Amino acid sequence: MASSTIPISKSQLLRRHETQAPKSITSKAGFLQSESVFFKGKGYVSGGGVGRGGLLKMPFKSAVVSATTAEKPKKRYPGEAKGFVEEMRFVAMKLHTRDQAREGEKEPEGPPVKKWEPSIDGYLKFLVDSKIVYDTLEGIVRKAAYPFYAEFQNTGLERSESLAKDLEWFKARGHDIPEPSAPGLSYANYLQELSQKDPQAFLCHFYNIYFAHTAGGRMIGRKVAEKILEKKELEFYKWEGDLSQLLQNVRDKLNKVAESWSREEKDHCLEETEKSFKYSGDILRLILS
Ligand code: HEM
Repeated sequence: MASSTIPISKSQLLRRHETQAPKSITSKAGFLQSESVFFKGKGYVSGGGVGRGGLLKMPFKSAVVSATTAEKPKKRYPGEAKGFVEEMRFVAMKLHTRDQAREGEKEPEGPPVKKWEPSIDGYLKFLVDSKIVYDTLEGIVRKAAYPFYAEFQNTGLERSESLAKDLEWFKARGHDIPEPSAPGLSYANYLQELSQKDPQAFLCHFYNIYFAHTAGGRMIGRKVAEKILEKKELEFYKWEGDLSQLLQNVRDKLNKVAESWSREEKDHCLEETEKSFKYSGDILRLILS
């Protein structure tokens, strides 16, 4: 096949942030043509399911390497070799801003977390809205509208009870606990809806919410506690047992569930990541309100 004649060294000359494929590559790469793959901005290439809105992306470099090894399309999706969770992580990390995480690719929109000036009222709104989201997630897997949701019961990552304890703690210190507000309520509604009709998209949110909280979420919790809680560590940021093992158990289950998904279903799940960032971002911003 002509595509396999493109030397790797040549393809390696292409930078990740190039926005257009050089003609010599597109015209020679039979793999790219036959899959109707086209090049998009920001150094990504859309894959098989382009009809779903162009979010099925892989880094330019990987796509070119695939083009040189057309007989091995397995390598097409970043992280795929390690399992589907790695694919979800890859997409999520790119949606961070550069100041949030090393792998982030978005421009910062506001001040970095270390410059945040949180208020107790804002933080309480964040905790209340987070609780309604975790209540919803935990209710959904308990009910298990799709039998595989039951795999995600009692993972040890649940946050609903710990948030209830934290809110009690604030109440006992004379703080008024606010009603849930729009960001939490609309995310909870959305998750409820999705869980009934779109299990792949739902699982994307499930992954992002629980895993984000153990990474950036914990870091945010520490910074806020330093500034307004005299370093008091809330229950929200404590897990029983070995957290990395709990996370690994959930990764294994997610990988297992996704093994039975078609490539299109996987892509559909990955596409949902952006919404997860949008909804969670709105809740995070309550800290500064
Ligand atoms: C101010 C906001 C945020 C900050 C500062 C932040 C920061 C981070 C950091 C430092 C990591 C660890 C990176 C590493 O493993 O090297 C991380 C991981 C991650 N973040 Fe965020 N993040 C933020 C918001 C979000 C949001 C809104 C989501 C999605 C809802 C999200 C999803 C994830 C996921 C899925 C991981 C991977 C966790 C893992 O592999 O265990 N993050 N984040």
